[in-house]
Amino acid sequence: MPPLRDLYKVSLLFPAIVMTGCQTNASNNPDSLFLSRYIQYLRGNIPEQYAGLTNTLSVSTVNISNGKRLYQMQCMACHGKTGDGNGLAGTQLTPSPANLTFTRKLPLATDSFYFWTISEGGKPFGSAMPAFEERLSDDEIWQITHYINTGFKLNKGT
Ligand code: HEC
Repeated sequence: MPPLRDLYKVSLLFPAIVMTGCQTNASNNPDSLFLSRYIQYLRGNIPEQYAGLTNTLSVSTVNISNGKRLYQMQCMACHGKTGDGNGLAGTQLTPSPANLTFTRKLPLATDSFYFWTISEGGKPFGSAMPAFEERLSDDEIWQITHYINTGFKLNKGT
């Protein structure tokens, strides 16, 4: 029997499961693999250096627009222009790229969740999400995080 606290945290996932249509047969659906990331994070099983990290950059127009530029270069091919997970390069992937407009509304979508996910990618989960720790600086990861968190605002009309 896991401690009550864990059960409470996992219960936060239920809306996610229902909203993404994984409620039926979740264990046989390859897309339900994305839940492994949530469960690992909620149980606190992420490498120590990411625990409790918070964005070191201010939410400025410069940081958001740099985040947008980096997102379009590094992430859009899979996660789509508006973050809905429908990028062309992602159509054949299993599990498919996450819908980041959904992710950012989850209580677990903290700065440390983003920093860990973007740095280490999907290797531990057998997914195609690349690890960006060698390709992006810390500041660049934080700029992308701001861009996602501000609701992809600067996307409109461009
Ligand atoms: C080659 C395709 C690909 C590229 C490029 C890519 N991703 Fe992903 N991403 C995925 C896939 C597939 C998943 C789902 C599996 C997983 O979580 O590992 C994912 C998951 C994520 C998640 C977890 C969201 C959730 O709800 O579980 C975040 C955050 C994320 N990506 C951000 C990014 C960012 C930011 C970039 C660019 C710096 C990026 N990704 C580039 C394929 C990609």
